[in-house]
Amino acid sequence: MIDLHSHILPGIDDGARSLDIALEMAEQAVSCGISHMVCTPHIHMGYFDNSFSSIAEAFYSFNEHVKRESIPLSLSFAAEVRVNELIPIWHKKGELPFLGKYDGKNVLLLEMPHSHIPQGLDVLIKWLLRNNIQPLIAHPERNRELIAENDKFNWLQRQGCLFQATAGAFVGRFGERVEEFAFRLLEKGAFHVVASDTHDLIRRPNDMQAALEVVSKYNSEYAEALFIKTPGRIIALDQNNAV
Ligand SMILES: [Fe+2]
Repeated sequence: MIDLHSHILPGIDDGARSLDIALEMAEQAVSCGISHMVCTPHIHMGYFDNSFSSIAEAFYSFNEHVKRESIPLSLSFAAEVRVNELIPIWHKKGELPFLGKYDGKNVLLLEMPHSHIPQGLDVLIKWLLRNNIQPLIAHPERNRELIAENDKFNWLQRQGCLFQATAGAFVGRFGERVEEFAFRLLEKGAFHVVASDTHDLIRRPNDMQAALEVVSKYNSEYAEALFIKTPGRIIALDQNNAV
């Protein structure tokens, strides 16, 4: 499996708190059946002020440790970018990290606030698409406004986004309402990829294997697309920040 969303890089956001924990998370990913993981720390202004260069530095250092420990996990990096008005400026400076490509467009893992759909999101999405950037919305199944008003998801879908589900949503990690909504979206075929969004070993571990089992029982062909094929197509290793 390919895991497109993880907070494994130690000490730069609310993910792994130490190198030792990060290395154990890498082992956990391997034991889940993951062969490649994209490290996607938050870029969230005022909370996690990461940049392309700070993430790159943390990534190259961590990747050396993973290799030294002979953990069979290949890694690349991007970021989970919170919606904000500076995104176009960062892009013009070449500082927006992408997961890879989808239909020739650079894929941006874009995070909404958990409570609501931010104003102006449609304007940002239009700008991104015009600039050859494909927004992949992280975990829509956990957005409280979408949970309360499901029809707003159709609006978001019409804007031209891709959608990433969190593996844990399918195994009850975020409660019943999130699980129900995640399965409703799955039934509509609304998701493009499933990723772990792992933050640590215990509270937010890697749920990819458990989720793959559940989703495969529901629809094995769709599960293969969500966990393997589409994320593999996005990260095709010659085109992003893989090493
Ligand atoms: Fe995340």
